[in-house]
Amino acid sequence: MELKEIQHGTADYDKAIQLRREVLRWPLGLEYTSEQLAGEANQRHFVAECGETGKPEYLASACLVEEEPSVARIRQVAVRQDCQGRGLGRELMEFAERQAKEAGYESVILCSRHYAIPFYEKLGYVCVSDWFEEVGMPHRSMTKTL
Ligand SMILES: CC(C)(COP(=O)(O)OP(=O)(O)OC[C@H]1O[C@@H](n2cnc3c(N)ncnc32)[C@H](O)[C@@H]1OP(=O)(O)O)[C@@H](O)C(=O)NCCC(=O)NCCS
Repeated sequence: MELKEIQHGTADYDKAIQLRREVLRWPLGLEYTSEQLAGEANQRHFVAECGETGKPEYLASACLVEEEPSVARIRQVAVRQDCQGRGLGRELMEFAERQAKEAGYESVILCSRHYAIPFYEKLGYVCVSDWFEEVGMPHRSMTKTL
C-alpha cells in the first residue's frame, strides 16, 4: 500500500472522486456538483493505493486546503467500505498531517460527522464547535496542533 499525492483534474483525480462518491455521497443519496469539484482545484489530494492485484486501486482518499495562513483543513476523508477498521484511516490522516506540517501549517481543522468523532479523537483531535448540520447529518469542528 502506497500513500501518495495526486493532481486535480487528472484521471487519478477522477478515480479518487469515484471512491469518494461511493463512500461519502451515494450512501446519503447525494452527488458532487461540477462546481464543487472545480472548486477543489486549489486543494491537495492524497490517496492510499494498493497494487497487490497488479491493477492499482485506491483504498482511501483525503483533501488538504489552506484555512488560514497557519491552519490547514483536512476534508473528504474516505476509506473504502471493505477496508475500514484496519488502520488505513489513521495512516492516511497521519500522512496528510505530515504533508500539512511540512508545508508550514501549525494546526489542522476538520468537520467530523457525528459517528467519526471517536476516530478523530483517537488521533488527537478535540472538538471546538457546537453541533451543526452538513449533508443532512450532525457535525462538529475539530482541531489538532501539529
Ligand atoms: C471514519 C473512517 C475515515 C475511519 O477510517 P478507518 O480506516 O475505518 O479507521 P482506522 O481503522 O484507521 O481506525 C483508527 C482508530 O480509530 C478507531 N475508530 C475508527 N472508526 C471509529 C468509530 N466510528 N468509532 C470509534 N472508533 C473508531 C479504530 O478502532 C482505531 O482505534 P485503535 O487505534 O485503538 O485500534 C472510515 O471508517 C470511513 O471512511 N468512514 C466512512 C466515511 C466517513 O465517515 N468519513 C469521515 C467523514 S468526517
